[in-house]
Amino acid sequence: MIVTRPFSPTDIPNVMSIVKDSLGESYPPSLYLTIHNLWPEGFLMAVEDGRPVGFVASVTIGSKIARVLMLAVLRTNRRRYLGRTLMRTLYEKCTLSGVDTVVLEVRKSNTEAMTFYKREGFETFGEVKNFYSNGEDAWKMMKVLGT
Ligand SMILES: CC(C)(COP(=O)(O)OP(=O)(O)OC[C@H]1O[C@@H](n2cnc3c(N)ncnc32)[C@H](O)[C@@H]1OP(=O)(O)O)[C@@H](O)C(=O)NCCC(=O)NCCS
Repeated sequence: MIVTRPFSPTDIPNVMSIVKDSLGESYPPSLYLTIHNLWPEGFLMAVEDGRPVGFVASVTIGSKIARVLMLAVLRTNRRRYLGRTLMRTLYEKCTLSGVDTVVLEVRKSNTEAMTFYKREGFETFGEVKNFYSNGEDAWKMMKVLGT
């Protein structure tokens, strides 16, 4: 059974494994605590049969905009609508918090994520040069909730 639930600091080792597997990155544990402290409602875990297999981490920018910082699902668990479930739970949290717009950045080379976000109703509205540490550019995408 798949459920989404709020992130808890005890999830950090699992989140770090998912980030390593999915994004190839190793961020310090304190980063996740900082993100969680900024907006606890926007940090959600996807748990399958008791095992954390994905998460979304977001913060608010002002009172009406949420920004997704990370979204990842373990490679072994993809294409089973976990990413969609995480995002749709996030939209619900946004609405409850008075947030009406979700924004994010995605690597221009990440065509899979672009396809995913477009399917979720996101539109490209700009770009950021040299956004990533390897110098890669990002597309900026947004979705107005309820449209
Ligand atoms: C992007 C990501 C979170 C999607 O998670 P997921 O659980 O596999 O996605 P879902 O099963 O919810 O996909 C929903 C729809 O999105 C699209 N989609 C998802 N992954 C896709 C892919 N690899 N290729 C093409 N379309 C894809 C499809 O339309 C899919 O519906 P369908 O299976 O009926 O065709 C996952 O691929 C991931 O963790 N990628 C690595 C990390 C990453 O790139 N994160 C985003 C950074 S901004």
